[in-house]
Amino acid sequence: MKIVNKIKDCKSVLKKLKEKGRRIGFVPTMGCLHEGHLSLVRAAVKECDSVAVSIFVNPTQFGPGEDLDKYPGNFERDCMMAEKEGVGLIFHPDAAEMYPPGYGTFIEVGQPGTIMCGQFRPGHFRGVATVVMKLLDIISPDRAYFGEKDYQQIVIVKRMVEDLNLDVEIINCPTVREKDGLAMSSRNRYLSRGERKSAPILHRCLSMAVGMVAKGERDLAKIRGKAVSELKRSDFVKRVDYFDFRDPVTLEKKKVIKGTDKKILAATAVWIGGTRLIDNMIIKL
Ligand code: PAJ
Repeated sequence: MKIVNKIKDCKSVLKKLKEKGRRIGFVPTMGCLHEGHLSLVRAAVKECDSVAVSIFVNPTQFGPGEDLDKYPGNFERDCMMAEKEGVGLIFHPDAAEMYPPGYGTFIEVGQPGTIMCGQFRPGHFRGVATVVMKLLDIISPDRAYFGEKDYQQIVIVKRMVEDLNLDVEIINCPTVREKDGLAMSSRNRYLSRGERKSAPILHRCLSMAVGMVAKGERDLAKIRGKAVSELKRSDFVKRVDYFDFRDPVTLEKKKVIKGTDKKILAATAVWIGGTRLIDNMIIKL
């Protein structure tokens, strides 16, 4: 497995692989790899000839006062895990390599970047789209793999790929969960023991919404009300940023379920103590 820090070196490794006709898979990450990330890597290794993983804690997607400075990382461990899964290349640039002095170009994300997490983290998706665009250009993969855990991120990346006519297939992979339902996340390690015990409440409330719809409930405002009051009953829940029902493709807000609806996204962002957790589920009708 090769490890490169410079864009120039990364491009030249990729160019050689492409000349050999290799089909390139790419998994962008911020490191601190867990089974969620590895599920993306495994899908990429299965479907592609060579797999590149980027490990870069992207400063432009963190807002002031967010956890950029304390974002967890363990580069050696990440490399070992990636190598074991058959990854061929790790791209690990520093911030100055990606954003040198004078850097000034950003991807402006439209409406889907201003709702849900975008409402509470202004500029977040602008930073995500910018770094993903740069990484897609550097790696130039045939397929790039993203997790449904960050559902809004996938919608925004797919929109960008379509709008900018990028030649890459975006593949979504299902959310990997702990045994108790908590979606795996690098941020779960911030949780105290009590907070960790209460954190599966996001998954429980989403599952409750799925269950209510399955039993015939069609009033999404009613389901939302029940879920939010359940969340707020927990002592560890400090704030509910949102618990929303959305169109899974456009992210348009849904108030009621119509006869023509096939799938609805239920998505939530909740502060458990000082940690903001997100989760979502697709409700199939
Ligand atoms: P990061 O949070 O490290 O996640 C990297 C990828 O792993 C994302 O596509 C994310 O959705 C996926 N992932 C994380 N937890 C998962 C889980 N429990 N199950 C399935 N997939 C999971 O997302 C980012 O980094 C960044 O925004 C990035 C795209 C790298 C741009 O900086």
